[in-house]
Amino acid sequence: MKTIIVTGASSGFGEAIVHKFVSHGYGVVAIARRSEKLHELQRKYPDQVLPLAVDLTDKGAVELALTEVPPLFSNIVALINNAGMSLGFGPSQRNELSDWEDMVNINILALLHITKKVLKEFVERNSGHIINISSVAAYYPYMGSNVYGATKSFVSNFSLNLKTDLEGTDIKVTNIAPGLSKTEFALVRFKGNKDQAESIYEDKTYLNAENIAASVYWAFSQPENVNINVIEIMPTGQSFALGFAPKSKRILDELN
Ligand SMILES: NC(=O)c1ccc[n+]([C@@H]2O[C@H](COP(=O)([O-])OP(=O)(O)OC[C@H]3O[C@@H](n4cnc5c(N)ncnc54)[C@H](OP(=O)(O)O)[C@@H]3O)[C@@H](O)[C@H]2O)c1
Repeated sequence: MKTIIVTGASSGFGEAIVHKFVSHGYGVVAIARRSEKLHELQRKYPDQVLPLAVDLTDKGAVELALTEVPPLFSNIVALINNAGMSLGFGPSQRNELSDWEDMVNINILALLHITKKVLKEFVERNSGHIINISSVAAYYPYMGSNVYGATKSFVSNFSLNLKTDLEGTDIKVTNIAPGLSKTEFALVRFKGNKDQAESIYEDKTYLNAENIAASVYWAFSQPENVNINVIEIMPTGQSFALGFAPKSKRILDELN
């Protein structure tokens, strides 16, 4: 069965990507930490979803989990590097260093680790597609984005560099940069504070996870000779700076 690997499959974009690819007949190796969420997906699609409950920042656990993928799910045609997060919303001078480290670990290092692993097989077969989920924060700073935006700049730039290194091969690389989207992302960013998470979407239009899953599938389903390099996608009402500075200040004031 043609199979994709989706990181961060337990919620948001990743979960919607699972539904999308399953509906088109693909198998999905679904990776995230929350085992129960992944098993829910497996119960829904018992023949098409393989849940791998691992922390992607744990190199050894990822290696082991991938070597144990059964033959039914071993024909990997795409890696969707989607797992990631933002922590904190204040300016750099107020952020926690440990939050910055956690973002670098999942958004950059974990992505590199699994990419390296899967790329080896793609190169041996001369086929496969790596789709990285970056963010518009990679290109347009807003107050409070700082290290999050910088990790996503890394993802965008790494995607272009990877594409360059793969010149002359049949391996595809796509970078998708979404704008403001309603998922569990804000809840994670505000460490479970529902009111602050909801306030991010006040008076704003936003994308939903299905919008991003549709972009991923569109990029993936192009003809053999077509590589979609970059997709930048925003909600209609968004512009190049999110206009969060007053909100960021209000949230900081509340914290004091
Ligand atoms: N929502 C937005 O506005 C937005 C905009 C642009 C880009 N993005 C990017 O889109 C991607 C998906 O975010 P989302 O909006 O769908 O947020 P989400 O609903 O919070 O999903 C994040 C996913 O990443 C997984 N994850 C986080 N840390 C992990 C770890 N250490 N090991 C394994 N899995 C981990 C989470 O699963 P577990 O918690 O179960 O591990 C979850 O499945 C992220 O890279 C994010 O930066 C989001």
